[in-house]
Amino acid sequence: MSPSEAASVARRSAAPEETEGWGASLAPALEAGDLLLLRGPLGSGKTCFVTGLARGLGARGRVRSPSFGLIHEMNGRVFLAHVDLYRLSEREAERLGLEELRERGVLAVEWGERLLPAWRDDALEITFRILGPTARELTVRGHGPRGAALLEAWRALDPAARGA
Ligand SMILES: Nc1ncnc2c1ncn2[C@@H]1O[C@H](COP(=O)(O)OP(=O)(O)OP(=O)(O)O)[C@@H](O)[C@H]1O
Ligand SMILES: [Mg+2]
Repeated sequence: MSPSEAASVARRSAAPEETEGWGASLAPALEAGDLLLLRGPLGSGKTCFVTGLARGLGARGRVRSPSFGLIHEMNGRVFLAHVDLYRLSEREAERLGLEELRERGVLAVEWGERLLPAWRDDALEITFRILGPTARELTVRGHGPRGAALLEAWRALDPAARGA
């Protein structure tokens, strides 16, 4: 494991707007082909983060939890596909055509741990932890070269600008 793969960067959020702000401020660093694996318990802020991501990408349309539709697609500066694997088995998840979505743009996957380990070869993994009623911690790890580059972008984000 390279040193960058071992590294992780944690940030705090005190309100849903702040979690959205973290997503919005990461958006400018994203390119087609990027994979974001979002982990953490129910209600920890994964969808909230994607709402900010969509705003930062200039995507139109509200971000709903895709739990029932499974896949929610949005067009902005870069195409964004938002997927929730909560109700799916590993086998069902592999049949969704996620590789094709990833080729078209940014792929953000809630319950990303349901994917086969190979998906973690080049990805940014964000783990959400519930610290209190409105307190959350986002721990970010980079996997592979692109994951490492995105981790550096995340490290450089200015906490004061996250509400922007
Ligand atoms: N700091 C915070 N960041 C994000 N959400 C927060 C925060 N504080 C409170 N919340 C609340 O927690 C909930 C987070 O919901 P969200 O749908 O984003 O979770 P999720 O991780 O996507 O859950 P699921 O696994 O069910 O899809 C919302 O009701 C939100 O208002
Ligand atoms: Mg969700």
